[in-house]
Amino acid sequence: MSAARTAAARRVGVWLVGARGSISTCVAYGLAGLRAGLVEPLGMVTQTEPFTRLDLASLDSLVVGGHDICTRGLTQSAGELVRNRILSAELVTSVAAEAAAFESRIRPGILDPDDVGVADLHPEAARLGSLAPREQIAILRADFEQFARDNELDEVVVINVASTEARRDPRPHWRSLEALDAALDAKSAEPASLVYAYAALSSGRPFVNFTPSLGASTPALRELARKHGAPHCGNDGKTGETLVKTVLAPLFVARRLRVLAWQGYNMLGNRDGECLSDPLHRDAKLKSKDEALRQLLGDPQVHTKVGIDFVPSLRDWKTAWDFIHFEGFLGAQMSLQFTWAGSDSALAAPLVIDLALLADFARQRGEAGEMQHTASFFKAPIGGGTHDFHAQFQRLVEYAEKHARR
Ligand SMILES: NC(=O)c1ccc[n+]([C@@H]2O[C@H](COP(=O)([O-])OP(=O)(O)OC[C@H]3O[C@@H](n4cnc5c(N)ncnc54)[C@H](O)[C@@H]3O)[C@@H](O)[C@H]2O)c1
Repeated sequence: MSAARTAAARRVGVWLVGARGSISTCVAYGLAGLRAGLVEPLGMVTQTEPFTRLDLASLDSLVVGGHDICTRGLTQSAGELVRNRILSAELVTSVAAEAAAFESRIRPGILDPDDVGVADLHPEAARLGSLAPREQIAILRADFEQFARDNELDEVVVINVASTEARRDPRPHWRSLEALDAALDAKSAEPASLVYAYAALSSGRPFVNFTPSLGASTPALRELARKHGAPHCGNDGKTGETLVKTVLAPLFVARRLRVLAWQGYNMLGNRDGECLSDPLHRDAKLKSKDEALRQLLGDPQVHTKVGIDFVPSLRDWKTAWDFIHFEGFLGAQMSLQFTWAGSDSALAAPLVIDLALLADFARQRGEAGEMQHTASFFKAPIGGGTHDFHAQFQRLVEYAEKHARR
C-alpha cells in the first residue's frame, strides 16, 4: 500500500456486508456504469458543490468486495433488478466483466445466531456462524486484509448493507469495551452486525452501518472506534418516507401548527420487505422510523404510528402513504397527505457510495469515532442530535466548506 498516493489516485476498497443483496448489486453495477460514463451520478451528494472540492478518492479508484451468507449469484440479483425496471439490461451487459470481478471478491459471511431459515444459505456461512466471536472476528479481519493486499488498497471501508437483524434488548456488557471484551473471551454469542463492526473498527477501518441493526452503536463499540482511530457512522439509511418526514415536520414546528396525528404506512415487496414482515426484524425498523418524528415535534402526546407490510408484487418499489392531521388558528383542523413511490435500492446505492468516500476522507484526516456530520444520511444517527434534515444537511455542507480546496 502506498502512503504517498494523492487523494485522487488512492485506491479505496468498499467492503459490502450483504454483498449479494439489492443495494450492493446497485452499488456494484452503478459504480461500473458511472466509470463507463453510462450512468449519471444522480442521488449522489458528493458529486455536487462544495463536496467536489474535497480531496475525496475518485470513483475510478474504488474497488468493491464483500461478505454474504447466501449462494444467490450476482447475475440473479441483477436479473431481479432488471425485471423491476431499476437496472437496464444494456448496463448489465456492458459492465458484466466488472460485475464478475466483484463477485469473485465475495467471501462467505457469518450467520447471525438469531437468523433461522435463511434461503440459499452458504454452508460455510453457517459454519462460521457457529464459531466463537473471537474466531469470527479473526476470520473477518483476515478477509479485509487479503482484499486490501490483493487489490493494493490504501484503505478499506466496511459497510453493512445486510438484512436487518432481529432486535435485541440491550445487554449489560455492551456498556463498556472492557465488559464486551470479557464477554467475547467467554464466548458469548453476539449479533453478527456487532461482530462485523468489531472486526472493522479493531483493525482501524472505517465502518458504516446502513441498516437498523446494532452495528457499532453501543458504547463499547464506540469506545473501540476511538481507541483504534477509526471513524464510523450509522444507523439505518434515510432514503424515503423518513427523509420526507424530517423535511416536513420542522415546517409545522416553525409555523406553530399543532400536529395532532401522524400516521405512516409502508408497503414494500423486496427481500428487505420480506425480512421485515417478521415481527422481530420489523421492530428494529419501526423503532428508528418513529423516533425522529417524536423528537422533531417535541410533543410526547402526539399520536404517531408507522406500519410496514410486505406486498410481494411491488418488488423493489416501495409505496409509503402518510396522513398528517393538524390544527391551526381558531382550532381549524386540516390535513396533509403524501404518497412516496420509490425504488429503495436506487435511492440507497448512491448514498452508500457517498458514505464510502466520506468515511475514507475522515480516516485520512485522522478523525476517529462518530462522523457527526453524516447525520443527514441516517434515520437514527449514532451521534444523536437533531433529526431536522435541513439542519443536518447544513452541518454536512459546513464540514465540506471547512475542508474543501479554495
Ligand atoms: N434500500 C433502502 O432504502 C434502505 C434504507 C435503509 C436501510 N436499508 C437496509 O439495508 C439493508 C439491505 O437492504 P437490501 O434491500 O439490499 O436487502 P437484501 O435482502 O436485498 O440484501 C441483504 C443481503 O444481506 C445478506 N445477509 C443477511 N445476513 C447476513 C450476514 N449475517 N452477513 C452477510 N450478509 C448477510 C443476505 O443474504 C442478502 O443478500 C437492509 O437491512 C435494509 O433494511 C435499506
